[in-house]
Amino acid sequence: MKYVKLLLLGLLIASTLLSDVNAQKDKTKTKNKSKSKNKVKPTEPATLERPALQKAEACSATKCKLPDCRCSDATLPRPKFKGKEKEIPQFVSITFDDAINVVNSAQYELLFEDLKNPDGCDATGTFFLSHEYTDYERVNSLYNAGHEIALHSVTHGDGTEYWRSADVKTIEMEFSDQLQILEAFANVPRESVHGMRLPFLQISGNNTYEAIKSLGLTYDSSWPTQQFKNPAMWPYTLDYLSVQDCQIGPCPTAALPGVWVAPMVTWTDMEGYSCSMIDACAYPPEDKVDALFEWMLENFNRHYMGNRAPFGMYLHAAWFSRGRNYFAAFKKFINHLSTYPDVYMTSVSRMLEYVRKPVLGQPFKSCEPKRQAECHAVQCSVQKKSSKETRYMNVCNKCPAVYPWLNNPLGQDM
Ligand SMILES: *[C@@H]1O[C@H](CO)[C@@H](O)[C@H](O)[C@H]1NC(C)=O
Ligand SMILES: *[C@@H]1O[C@H](CO)[C@@H](O)[C@H](O)[C@H]1NC(C)=O
Ligand SMILES: [Zn+2]
Repeated sequence: MKYVKLLLLGLLIASTLLSDVNAQKDKTKTKNKSKSKNKVKPTEPATLERPALQKAEACSATKCKLPDCRCSDATLPRPKFKGKEKEIPQFVSITFDDAINVVNSAQYELLFEDLKNPDGCDATGTFFLSHEYTDYERVNSLYNAGHEIALHSVTHGDGTEYWRSADVKTIEMEFSDQLQILEAFANVPRESVHGMRLPFLQISGNNTYEAIKSLGLTYDSSWPTQQFKNPAMWPYTLDYLSVQDCQIGPCPTAALPGVWVAPMVTWTDMEGYSCSMIDACAYPPEDKVDALFEWMLENFNRHYMGNRAPFGMYLHAAWFSRGRNYFAAFKKFINHLSTYPDVYMTSVSRMLEYVRKPVLGQPFKSCEPKRQAECHAVQCSVQKKSSKETRYMNVCNKCPAVYPWLNNPLGQDM
């Protein structure tokens, strides 16, 4: 009965969502490329004094120690956990990318409703948020529900080339402006934001990670691995050279101490192809709850029966509208996960807290503190300067004068 209800709801939202996604796609196409490029140009003179990066050396366990350094080739949280794999808590990172709106936030709330981890704490996920079409009142509410709000840029870019060639300054601007937007319009404190995922998973070598460091963030989760899925790769730092396979280059080769990579360990689809995100799997099983469920379980078991490296469930809400049973199957699967005594569905940043100080058995002494970021919600209708289009946005506090954008994150009348 419960699933029938879910299914109906899923279908209902799916149809709304589909039109929403298409609308977004069209809008992106009409964006003026040359104009937005101009806007990205730094207004101040280029910072020439950025220190040169050192080439990363091969990692060795004697030099690189927890909690702040971890070699990419370490297959267990601690070497002494060998033989005790079954006692390592299995983390599951459920993440969604792109804008949060009224429709998909309702799905997110349904997914996590009453979902608990074995320690009694709420199961949570991570939202890699992009700015355009985002409803900041909903962001505030997901944040208060304990989810991690992470960065996916202000503009989402014009395509992969923008990100592939992005210099440190561009990345800093995209993500520091987004931090300001989150603070001003969703009351999400800057200190609560720890990570990012690049649009199209398109990193730009050292630059991405240099920007992460300078912005005071902790991690990136944009780098897929196909080679290290069994045993699966654990998160690691870039103090030393990464052994991870570079699927979408350029990948970093400089030493960037303290920056964490939460690798996107790929799934395997029904034809044996690897997919970095669930919705990137070209050959999913047929559109039936049990078939989808079994497929998810198979991918999960590679981690759970193996070295217990964090299991990623990475997707976009649009995936739920690919098939009539997708939402129900996903919900059934995560409900199933919540019955395990040793599976923890947490945000990426909470999982990294564990990786820094790993133990056997229960991973944390207490739940994360409850959040109470207030939101006095207002509905705004503002103009997007570059296209003269009207954008409706729900925000906390007060309406901006114009639609917030790169170089004008607070939407001031300039
Ligand atoms: C796009 O940008 C170019 C160059 O800045 C400009 O000449 C053109 O008028 C712009 N088009 C639109 C639709 O804004
Ligand atoms: C990254 O930095 C290292 C060390 O300075 C350098 O050798 C390498 O070419 C850089 N990679 C890219 C893609 O810029
Ligand atoms: Zn995206």
